[in-house]
Amino acid sequence: MSLKNQAALDFLQVRRSRPAKTLVAPAPTREELMPLLIAAARSPDHGKLEPWRFVVIEHGAMQRLAALTETCGLAMGKSAEDIAKARSQFDMGHLAVAVIEVQKPSEKIPAIEQTYSAGAVCLALLNAALAAGWGANWLSGWQSHNRSFCEQGLGLSKNEKIAGFIHIATEGTAPPERPRPDVTTLTQWVSE
Ligand SMILES: Cc1cc2nc3c(=O)[nH]c(=O)nc-3n(C[C@H](O)[C@H](O)[C@H](O)COP(=O)(O)O)c2cc1C
Repeated sequence: MSLKNQAALDFLQVRRSRPAKTLVAPAPTREELMPLLIAAARSPDHGKLEPWRFVVIEHGAMQRLAALTETCGLAMGKSAEDIAKARSQFDMGHLAVAVIEVQKPSEKIPAIEQTYSAGAVCLALLNAALAAGWGANWLSGWQSHNRSFCEQGLGLSKNEKIAGFIHIATEGTAPPERPRPDVTTLTQWVSE
């Protein structure tokens, strides 16, 4: 029988991200991060394909990725403003985990289900970090969809994409609550 976990339920009712730009040092150590990665990898995965992996971006790699964002943005014709905004997650970053979607060949499991599983890993990592008392935020940005950035920046293969950057560090300022959906209007009950 499943045991009720009221603390987990209470956490899920009030959880919220902490904007990456408000995060401050320290970030988790490797030892502190590993249990969070293990929790995240405990995510639904149809067919046990493990269609994801992690690239941990430590502080020392942030400037290289900020500069690469700029290079990619210039090649894409992005404005100076767009480039500054996109590179800021690395300019200001302490630690981020790039969750990498790894598409595995499968006759049974559709590609979209592997994508969903990678998204589930992103949320699980975000929630694990928040539950551990860290500030955390799931970011993407146009560079995360740029092949040069993916391949030069993080060494991704052709079958790999960035599902998200999960920034994890210490909460600086507490964010105000944001409006939440009215779930009753989003929910349809089908009973026959
Ligand atoms: C796939 C994905 C990509 C996102 N990328 C960004 C981003 O690049 N910049 C941003 O400000 N917010 C981005 N967000 C939204 C932030 O994660 C935002 O803080 C979040 O929606 C707050 O949700 P929460 O308070 O319920 O955790 C993204 C969200 C998702 C799901």
